[in-house]
Amino acid sequence: MKDLQGKCVVLGVTGGIAAYKMADTARLLVKMGAEVHVVMTENAARFITPLTFESLTNQRCVVDTFARDFQYNVAHISLAKAADLILIAPATANVLAKLAHGVADDMLTTVVLAARCKKLAAPSMNTAMLENPVTQDNLAALQKYGFEIVEPAAGLLACGDVGKGKLPPPEELAEHVLRHLAREKTLQGVRVTVTAGPTQEALDPVRFLTNHSSGKMGYAIAREAMLRGAAVTLISGPVALEPPPFVQVEPVVSAKDMFLAVQKALPETDILIKAAAVADYRPATVAREKMKKQDHDLNIALERTDDILRWAAQNRHPGLFVCGFSMETENVMANSREKLEKKKLDMIAVNDLRTPGAGFGVDTNAVTLLTPEGREELPLLSKAEAAARLLDAIEKKRV
Ligand code: CTP
Repeated sequence: MKDLQGKCVVLGVTGGIAAYKMADTARLLVKMGAEVHVVMTENAARFITPLTFESLTNQRCVVDTFARDFQYNVAHISLAKAADLILIAPATANVLAKLAHGVADDMLTTVVLAARCKKLAAPSMNTAMLENPVTQDNLAALQKYGFEIVEPAAGLLACGDVGKGKLPPPEELAEHVLRHLAREKTLQGVRVTVTAGPTQEALDPVRFLTNHSSGKMGYAIAREAMLRGAAVTLISGPVALEPPPFVQVEPVVSAKDMFLAVQKALPETDILIKAAAVADYRPATVAREKMKKQDHDLNIALERTDDILRWAAQNRHPGLFVCGFSMETENVMANSREKLEKKKLDMIAVNDLRTPGAGFGVDTNAVTLLTPEGREELPLLSKAEAAARLLDAIEKKRV
């Protein structure tokens, strides 16, 4: 199922050069399953043609308020009613000013004024225009009226200046739409902390002990929780992944760092999901200078790290749900159930490293969810789907 299936998105395109980026944005949203309608101002139609949008969306692109050959009766009202979300992008200073004052003198501003759905505006203009107190006042007024303002990016502007005022790339605009429409907001108001990735335990300034964790499973859980409306903190060891948008990321390196970050986050957490592969041991001493090789062999003394999961479960506040992960190569279920019981967890997601398609680095996972009461075996799924099923199970257990 596509993330935006059954959703109607209206794109309001106004007359800025960044209008060209909206072709790709429209295409992305269509690919995600949305019904996309584009409404343009006359000025926008000088930068990019309605035909471009009509070809990409398979819908009539409206510019003129009085167009008669339109599929809807009283077009502005029908479109406003059909929309699940309106994204005005690029939003020029002129159109922002009109919207902030309820002016409805063309099709776009009329549709927006008539709509009760979520409205997003992505300002795009020269830095001086953006920073002008008039524009800033208009943006503040729009926020007061319930608009969400998409932060403009900084960089080289079309006028040659370097500064803030760029329309963010289509992928980022699509993420804003996804965040509002992709899922039912079953975790609205819930604070979720996810740990992900490996830890690195330093031996000296150039070497460390670590493991193969890629962070993919934890990142997928953080993203899914965010889409369901949760306030997500992602405590991440060193990984090569783009963090999901709209998630607070706390980068850490060692098991000690991760422990401190979890301790800090815990009082503000309702659900803790420990997908990280935390080192159980670290070098007992960290050499201050690079260790030089010797003729003889070398033994490294290791000491135990803190068991973060056990600590969290022992120090839980009422209502905290604690989910651990378990990766085993033998006696998988027995060892995992023992962990669940010994660490007093609400759930443990079990990976058998020997199962094809499960485990480190790959984009799929075969997870079994163990709880004190039972067991749910999930099939081989993408890590995104596995994350969704894990959160379904947690939500069911919390009610
Ligand atoms: N974990 C943790 N702190 C550690 C080690 C592990 O919080 N120092 C967490 C992991 O994030 C994971 C769970 O414990 O959620 C299970 O980790 P695993 O290494 O499989 O289990 P251990 O309890 O460490 O048992 P063993 O090493 O004996 O398999």
